[in-house]
Order: sequence, then C-alpha cells, then structure tokens
Amino acid sequence: MTTPEDQSTTQLRRSGTPFARGRLPLLTAGIALACTLTLPMIASAQPTPDPDKDLTAKQAQKIERERRVQLAANEANAQRAVNPGDEVPLDKSKLQNLKVGKTTATSDGVKLEMGSFVGLVRFVSADVVKVTIQAAGQPAYKSVAVVKDRIKKVSIKRSKSSSTYTMKTSGVTVRIALNKFGVTMLDKAGRVINADDSRFGSGYQDGKPYVFKKTDKGEAFYGFGEQTKGLNKRGDSIGMWNTDHYAYEADAKYIYASIPFFTGLKSTGAYGIFFDNTHHSMYEMASEADDYYYFYANGGELNYYFINGPKMGDVLERYTQLTGRYQQPPEWSLGWEQSHWGYFPGSKILDVAKGYRERKIPLDAMNMDIDYMDGWRVFTWGKNWGDQNQIDDELESMGVKTIAINDPGVKKESGYWLSEEGTDKGYWATNPDGSNYEGAVWPGTAYFPDFSRADVRAWWAGQLPKLTDKGVDGIWLDMNEPADFVGPNHTLPLNVEFSKGTKQHTEIHNIYGFWNTVATYEGLKKAKPNDRAFVFSRDMYAGSQRYAALWSGDNVSNWDHLKLTLPLNMNAGLSGVPHVGNDIGGFVGDTTPELFARWIESGSFAPFARVHYDNSFQPDQQCQEPWCLGSEVEDIARRYVSLRYSLLPYTNTAFHNSTKDGRPVQQALVYQFQNDSAVRNISDQFMWGDSIMVAPVVTEGATSREVYLPQGNDWIDWWTGEKHSGGQTITKAAPLDVMPIYVKAGSVISTREVQQHTGQNDFTNVAFNVFLGNGKASGTLYEDDGKTEAYKKGAYNTYATTVTTKSNGSMSVSTKKTHAGYASKLKTYDIVLRGDLPVLGGSGAAKVSPTKAAINSSASTSGVRIVKTDAKNNTVTVRVPINTRNVTIAFEGK
Ligand code: GLC
Repeated sequence: MTTPEDQSTTQLRRSGTPFARGRLPLLTAGIALACTLTLPMIASAQPTPDPDKDLTAKQAQKIERERRVQLAANEANAQRAVNPGDEVPLDKSKLQNLKVGKTTATSDGVKLEMGSFVGLVRFVSADVVKVTIQAAGQPAYKSVAVVKDRIKKVSIKRSKSSSTYTMKTSGVTVRIALNKFGVTMLDKAGRVINADDSRFGSGYQDGKPYVFKKTDKGEAFYGFGEQTKGLNKRGDSIGMWNTDHYAYEADAKYIYASIPFFTGLKSTGAYGIFFDNTHHSMYEMASEADDYYYFYANGGELNYYFINGPKMGDVLERYTQLTGRYQQPPEWSLGWEQSHWGYFPGSKILDVAKGYRERKIPLDAMNMDIDYMDGWRVFTWGKNWGDQNQIDDELESMGVKTIAINDPGVKKESGYWLSEEGTDKGYWATNPDGSNYEGAVWPGTAYFPDFSRADVRAWWAGQLPKLTDKGVDGIWLDMNEPADFVGPNHTLPLNVEFSKGTKQHTEIHNIYGFWNTVATYEGLKKAKPNDRAFVFSRDMYAGSQRYAALWSGDNVSNWDHLKLTLPLNMNAGLSGVPHVGNDIGGFVGDTTPELFARWIESGSFAPFARVHYDNSFQPDQQCQEPWCLGSEVEDIARRYVSLRYSLLPYTNTAFHNSTKDGRPVQQALVYQFQNDSAVRNISDQFMWGDSIMVAPVVTEGATSREVYLPQGNDWIDWWTGEKHSGGQTITKAAPLDVMPIYVKAGSVISTREVQQHTGQNDFTNVAFNVFLGNGKASGTLYEDDGKTEAYKKGAYNTYATTVTTKSNGSMSVSTKKTHAGYASKLKTYDIVLRGDLPVLGGSGAAKVSPTKAAINSSASTSGVRIVKTDAKNNTVTVRVPINTRNVTIAFEGK
C-alpha cells in the first residue's frame, strides 16, 4: 500500500491561497485573482473523474482542496455544491382536501378513514400527540429517533359532532375537523395552543407530506438542531439535509445536522413539534406570511408529534422522553481539548500537550486528525506517524486522553483488509443495478458502508479495537453526511441504495450519520466496557443525542462565526443535544489575537470545548494553540480554561440535570425566562446551567457590552460581586480579559480547585459559592466517579445546599445528601460567601466588613473554621467537615 499522507499531509496542503487575517478571504480583488491564478479549473468546478479509473488519495484531495478554496472565497459554483439540489417548493395549488369518513376509537386515540388515506391521531402520553397520515394499508413507519412511542396509557374523553371529533386527556384536548382534516390543540383552559391552518391543511402533494399551521404574530420559534443565524427562527426558511458545508456562511441554510424538532412560544406558552421524517425536509416559519407556517418533506410519511408545554422545559422534557436523552459524559470530555489538521508526526501531539502543561493551561484531550492514518485508510496507522503506543503512554502520563477521527468512506483497494472484507460481505451502499457505489473521499475512490444494516454496524463496531488498542479514548466522527468529493452536490446520488436495495439515499441521507454514530458508540462500548463512551459527530438526526455530542464542523475564523456559535449551540440545546461545541478560534482562515482571546473566553463556556484549526491554506502557517498569538491571549486562556475547570462540579451537575429532563447545559435565556418577552430574541447571552449567565463579547474592538438581566431576579457580577436588579440592560466594561458573567442571586454554585486535567486530584473539597438573593440561596451538586457507568445503577450522590439568613444577619447553611450511592472522597466543603456581603442583614442594614465575620461558637468547636477572608474580592470562606450538615455563621457587630 502506498502512504500518501506520509509525504502529503504537509506537502500537498501547503500551496494554498492566502486568507486575510481574522476573516474569510472575502473577495478582495487580490484574493480573487490569487484563486483564479492558482485554480485554473474553477470554471469546471469539479473535474469529472474517469469512471473506469480509481482516484488516488492525491487526486481526491486535489478535487476537495479546489472546492474548499472556492467555498472559502464564496464562489457561486462551489456554493451550488452545498445546496442539496432537490429543494423543490411545495405546490400550493395541488394540496389535498382530506375529508374524514368513518372514525374508529382506538385504545390510544382514533383512526380516521379518508378515502385512500388513513389518519391516526394517538396519544403517546397525556401531553404528547402523534399525528399520522398514511396511505391505507401501509405498514407503520419505524422511527430511528423515537425510543418510546407509547409512554403512558391515558384516559381519553371523547365526543363527536357532524363536523368535529374531540379527545380530551388530563393534559390536552385535540379537536379534529372532519370536513377537511385538521387538528387543533387546546390547553386545559380551552385556549388554542396550536392549530392547523384549514386554508391549506395537511396531506401529501405529489408524494410530499406537508402540514400547515396557524401562527400568531408574536410567536417565536426555537430549535431545529444545528442552525446558523439568530436564536428565534421566526421568518426563516429552514432546510434539513445534512451538508458538508466547508466555510459555511453565517446565514447558510444547510449545514451538517438535521433535527426536525422545534418549539413554538406564544402567549399561551410553549409547545413542540417533531416532524419525524428523514427525507430532505423544509420549514417555512412564517417566512411567507405572518399568519401561517408550514413544513414538508421530499418524501416519506406524514408523522409528527405535538408536544404540550406550557413551559419550554416541559416541551424538552417530553421530547427527550420520546427520543432519548444524553448520558452522563465522562468527566474528561468536559475538559479542554486541542486539535489541528496537520499535527504530524505523532510526536507533534506530544509537544503540544507538553506546551499546555508547561504553561499551566488545563487540558484533557488531544485530537488526532486523519494525519495518523495510513493514507487516510480508516482503522489504520501510518508508518511515519510514530509509535502510537509510546505516544499514548506519554500522553497518559500527562493525564491527556486521545481522541481519533474516524471517517465512514473506505478506500477501494485490493490488499486493504477492510475494503476486501466489506466487499466480500456485500456491506456497501449500492447502485440501482446492485453494484457497489464508488465515490471518493480523502483516501481516493471509496465505498460507503451501509450503516442502516445491523450486521454492517456490528462489523464496523468490531473494528474499533484497532483504535482503542492503541490507547484511543474517544472518537470524532467526520464526513458522515455522507460527504462524497465526486458525487452530485457533494454527496451520494439520490438513487444509491441501502438496506439491501430496499431503501434509497433520499431516505437514509439524514440518518447516515445517526447510524454511523450508533455503530461507533456500540463499538466503543464493547471495546472499553468499563468506560463511558465519548463520541462526537458532525452529523445528527433526532435521537443521536443518545450516543454522541455534536460539533459544528468547518467554521471560519471571523467575528460572524464566533457570534453564530452562541445561537447555534443554544438551538442545539433546545433540540435535545446538550453536548455541543465549535472549533474554537475557527477552523478556516487565520484568527487574530483579539478574536482568539474572545473565542477562548466564550468557548470555555461551550459544553464541548475544543480548539481545532487548519492552517494549510495560509502562507504563514499560523498556529492556533493558545500561546501562539502572544502572552495576553495565553494569559486569557489560562484564566478562562482554569475557570472552566473550577466550575466542573457545577457543570457535571448541569449534565446530570440534562440526563434527567433533557435540559440544555448552554441554555437560551428564553428556556428559563420565557415570560420575559425581552429575552426572546437574545442570541448573544446564555445561561450556563441553571444559575450562571454568560454574555461573551463577540464584536471586534469592543471594550464593553450591553447585558440584559432577565426579570424576576437580581444578578450578581461574577467578577466584582456587584448586584443589579433584573429587568434592565446594563453596560458592562469588558476589556479584552473580561467576559461578563453574572450569577442569578439566590444561587449556590459548586466549584473545586483548578486541576491541569480532570483526573489529576481526588475530589476532596467542594466550594459552595453562595450568592444570596433576598437573604436566601440554594443549589445542588451531583457527584459520581466521572468515568464508569456505575452511576446508572445508582452509584452517585446528590447534595442540596440551602442558605437562609436571620434578621440578626446570621446565616444558616444546611447541606443535605439527597441521593447516596457513591463512596465519595469529599472530606470537607467550603462555604464561600460571595457577592454583595453587606446585604446579609437585609436591605438598609449596616455594612459588615467580611473581615469581621466569625463562626458561631458551637460550629467552630466542631471543626468549622474561616480559612480565608478576602476584603478585596469581598469574600469569606468557611471550611466545614463533610459530615457537618448544618452551620450557622454569625457576624460580629450584628
Ligand atoms: C473535515 C473536518 C475537519 C477535519 C478535516 C480533515 O473538513 O470537518 O475538522 O480537520 O475534514 O479530516
């Protein structure tokens, strides 16, 4: 076998087009010229390969490289290649008029006869209604997303008139119009939550399932998985077709993942709709008119779920009950990661990890891009990569985990065992004539495993030891749209077949990544049965959150991209995907010190935090490790990554909450404050867990920013302890090293000492940071071993801390173990009084200097003591033995 990577990863990728610093190479005359000069093939865009000749890795990479240069320069012909190609609008003149004939009550709802169609309106639970329209006699659709289609048997009260059939449960009333099929959902008070628009209705237009809904002017829409643009999707035209969109524009319609679930928020509260259709689907969210929205797909069946609220949290809890929840991730995956396409040979990875350790910037994982492979053949190791066992040993000795990239395309090559085995067993996606489909990805001409088949998934899963045996801890899934350098629209042709010729690419495309993830997750679980599996993927469908985190692909080093990470991650969170992140600093193009500093600040509060970059297009080969752009950036990285590490107990708790009810970790403000209309369109602030609000600076040159503080709470400045009342916009000074962070008054935030990696020290002391609100505060802490699945069997602890103040200013702090199942190593806890301490005595109270704080005598005799008073930062720290559950802190002079 040849090993193209050995000579080429560096060589081939070095002859690129220069990008402007800090931004995409927008079409400045010089750059356009440079593109033209270096790329004589632009006009023909993609050279047509000779179908009788296999592409070498070099040729495949050349094709892709040229596409990327054009995309980065935003050239129209390249842009066309990231459009799905079959976005055919719905023809509104050809909509169906489905009239309901016979109605038959079923145990969970009703069956409606509508000519050659059947309608089924069924209760999955009292608050979740599944609406189906299918051709009569058609077998039930088997969803990959839904784990529980019958959550609870419900009692239904029914009534029927000549024009309507009504079903009422304890949660929702469904009124079905019979003359022209349509559903109206009403809440307990009889208010309409959501209704079909009877002017258009629901049904099929030439095989396209569609649903039209009415909307109120003020209704906002959230979710839709991974999306560009702002948080609120009202007015947007959204498409779901997993697309390898290198250097996507900040308003790109198609990027990598497809999660056809959204939440509507209006005066009656929130509701959700999950259109469980894997075909290319479209959503016109009041984009054509102010009073209706609609969604449709290019094929497949009409199946959607209406999910009752009224709280956004109710909707997400019910949606994730239906499609499953993210599992508690290994703690190391919540640390900081570094990655680069071009770390070659493997010793480079060690140098970078050492660089982190030397500079005391915490780090938990190094990622290996395709550079480690033998000629980009999956599940192989390049001979010039180095001794991976030794590399892994050294990384382990530094406490650094290894993540390896894994792509689905398998090089077509005799002598390559994976290629031969898959071919012998007939495991590839096929052409309509039954022959194996051949596309091209990094290794050259390639086959695409048919992951929709359980036997293929099991086979793929069985390959994972080739990576884990060399110390790989986590898997990074890429190119699983699936991307195809020579296919139409950069993917496989729509008539390529799967599932032994029974399904077409049109149906499988959006779930190819889903199945690839399942195979990988299962392989990793099998290879490392004692560990929590960590997989992150570029592609997803609804339900993928059961197996993986999401990363938002090939973003760009510019301010628009930094800005868009926030609504993108928040909407992913509102779509059931709590573990989400973006290439910090941007993947494409050169970052600037200022941009990188701001991105590190913001990225240190991304659920998945990884720096990743490709500098092969830059003549200066600028590096993007945190120390590459000057000491100021390096200091900022140390400060914010350290903050991330000190907050790990809190963050672990936020992930635990997510496993319980689907709650996002990086939460849109609207998730918690849906009744505050001022937050509905806020795309550049978020809640980190339930109690911390982060307002990153995402504007070039800004040294201050406006921060909206939601109503109903006071907010305490994380850095200064200053208190502000909610329901107002304040201006916060934000020099380069300050990212505004506020705590919801009344919260207790758990922190720990900063470690250089998550496994460095045992968790022996937790700090409960008390931020009083009206003299009270509370918070919870989740604790487990951070590594194994034992937590699923109850091996975890939860604690609830409650703080109250008396009129004399003394404070009672009580910590209860609310779940006991894990042999904790905690020996002590610290009560850290933070924020505006003079409020301890209530409003108008005399100021009490924290240096005068004293522990009441009974507590001090049981080993409780003040360990720190910090007048500058206005904090007092009291250390308490872990078994002392109640402490009273009195203040001198009170
Ligand atoms: C794709 C990935 C990127 C990776 C590259 C090489 O572009 O999105 O992250 O570095 O492929 O594997």
